[in-house]
Amino acid sequence: MSERPILEKVGSVEFYVGSAKQWAFMHQKAMGFRLLGYAGPETGVRDRVSYLLEQGDARFIFTSFLDPDDFVGKHVHLHGDGVKDISFTVQDMDETVRSIEERKIIKPAKVQKIKSENGSILTSSIPTFGETVHSLVDLGEYESDLPPGFVEVQDDTKSKGIKRIDHIVGNVEEKRMDEWVNYYIKGLGFNQLMSFDDKDISTEYSSLQSKVVEYNNRKIVFPINEPAWGLKKSQIQEYLDYYKSPGVQHFAFLTDNIIDTVSKLKKSGIEFLKTPAAYYEDLEERVGKIHEDIDKLKELDILVDRDEYGYLLQIFSKPIGDRPTVFYEIIQRRGAISFGKGNFKSLFQSIEREQAKRGNL
Ligand code: FE2
Repeated sequence: MSERPILEKVGSVEFYVGSAKQWAFMHQKAMGFRLLGYAGPETGVRDRVSYLLEQGDARFIFTSFLDPDDFVGKHVHLHGDGVKDISFTVQDMDETVRSIEERKIIKPAKVQKIKSENGSILTSSIPTFGETVHSLVDLGEYESDLPPGFVEVQDDTKSKGIKRIDHIVGNVEEKRMDEWVNYYIKGLGFNQLMSFDDKDISTEYSSLQSKVVEYNNRKIVFPINEPAWGLKKSQIQEYLDYYKSPGVQHFAFLTDNIIDTVSKLKKSGIEFLKTPAAYYEDLEERVGKIHEDIDKLKELDILVDRDEYGYLLQIFSKPIGDRPTVFYEIIQRRGAISFGKGNFKSLFQSIEREQAKRGNL
């Protein structure tokens, strides 16, 4: 089997949403993404509109439908606004497809060559949990920063400090986490980074299990959650009930200055989960000395956790769309490679307060 990585990194992430224009506008104005391109009827795309945005290395495409009965329309009707495609860039499509086929778990779609005035790209795709897919994209000698079908848009939106996607979390059905972990490990050659069970992640009420897979020196990191039994409904089950299938739960965006990034995001209206004041009282006893001013972290609701390599700072948004499904995390790593296990309890209690407001706890 091929020793070289067959996947390079996450290319772009495509959401299917009810109004791509509004999602793009919100990500520009509130999240600090710069609009790069547009595709739609004006550019020769007849059935949909898409907006491509970028901040640091994070690239998002928001796509909406023009005909409610088409594929995108049906997806949005069933799932609400959500993530359809987490694409991977690849160096050599033939080698990637051959290598995936040799593993005999996943069958990639037939490779297609998409031509445009900027050259051609090769694409294929593989299915993953729920209706989510991974496009495989080989850019080859392609000469544009925009995918075929997109036209350039001028936009001077300033970054709010997001550098790239740190990890993308999937929620899958109860008792199916191991199946999906194996899909990535056996089907694509990912490695397992760590796992958590209900001893780590449970509150009085609800619980979940999680395993983390990574690829290519952690360029691609996917924690995968499944619901576990608690006294009341797991937040993962609430997600599954509203998304109507497994799917992407959250994106963690990496920043070098979480205080600055979160201050800007809050100022522009992004809503984050609250942290109880008590969390900060014994923070230094729990995580040791940190560079940041604890009063500032408290003011912004930023959480801190430490592992054997260092510490991390993180905060979680409320759901980004209408349904309690996909949300964002902002994370700054000062050495730590983990995901904030020490914060799970306070985080989940905070999520549960929101869940209770929705009458789902
Ligand atoms: Fe996370």
